[in-house]
Amino acid sequence: MNTQMLMDTARSMVAADKGLLAMDESNPTCNSRFAKLGIAQTVEARRAYREMIVTTPDLGECISGAILYDETMRQQKKDGTPFVKVLIDAGIIPGIKVDAGATDLAAHPGEKITEGLDGLRERLKAYFAMGARFAKWRAVIGVGAGIPSRGCIDANAHALARYAALCQEAGLVPIVEPEVLMDGEHTLARCREATEEALRTVFEQLCLQRVMLEGIILKPNMVLPALNCPRQETVEEVADATVHCFLRTVPAAVAGIAFLSGGQSPELASARLNAMNIRFKSRLPWALAFSFSRAIQQPALKIWHGEEAKVPAAQQALLHRARCNSAARRGEYGPAMEMTDV
Ligand code: 13P
Repeated sequence: MNTQMLMDTARSMVAADKGLLAMDESNPTCNSRFAKLGIAQTVEARRAYREMIVTTPDLGECISGAILYDETMRQQKKDGTPFVKVLIDAGIIPGIKVDAGATDLAAHPGEKITEGLDGLRERLKAYFAMGARFAKWRAVIGVGAGIPSRGCIDANAHALARYAALCQEAGLVPIVEPEVLMDGEHTLARCREATEEALRTVFEQLCLQRVMLEGIILKPNMVLPALNCPRQETVEEVADATVHCFLRTVPAAVAGIAFLSGGQSPELASARLNAMNIRFKSRLPWALAFSFSRAIQQPALKIWHGEEAKVPAAQQALLHRARCNSAARRGEYGPAMEMTDV
């Protein structure tokens, strides 16, 4: 295992107030986002959309790495330049989603297990050869009546740890993503309980599978009330609950924490990350960064709408969100940023 290379990659993924751009939606997920906006659901439309993203001028100022999906990893710009080369030339590290998605967990109604371990060693080797330097695996943990169960948390944590060890063997930094979902009506307190239990179990399994923590990035949810919970805590309360939860569960050796956005509005995701950095940054052992998909892409996708002529305006919107989140890493994001075309 090339320990130094893994540590260097992990560090550069969260360096200089930058963060990750998740653009690894599977074809069905990408298609369903296109369908909602009336955009054609074709290989060419997905390619054109991803070309708009990776050619955004100055994106490398705020984005350290981009998570791709298998189809995108193999695609090119219209002029034939591979997307991987476009990213590397922009100073952005290419990464790859390697899980095969979540499926129903047997004997656990309403719960999911993420698949994709079979043949993973060979796939990781191939992705490294194609230029990827990090990977992502997402486990989903729902909260509801009687869930999450121990069985669901254990099975997903075990799979995450097996994946992470294989990544490090292949020279890829694993992004370890145990996502406690914000769907439903549960309270922030229930999200905190589930997140704490999931993170404790994940780190126990990472330790058992001999994963080097200095060479991983944790991609967690924020500790939040569910979308339909009547009580919605303030930005500061969310920041405190999230950081206190991590202080109890995430070892100091971990290279960095890069949040998923999970269905929060782009503005709220930036504001909550900002509050965490204002209140805690100087006292934390790890960087608090971002690895957003929807909270960076959604405004740009709406503007682009499948139309070539809208590419410059969509790229401006994408860069704006990337800059807002980079400012949030410094604790310098605020409503004023949303009123100007930064
Ligand atoms: P969201 O930021 O839209 O939650 O997506 C992050 C991600 O990569 C989910 O796996």
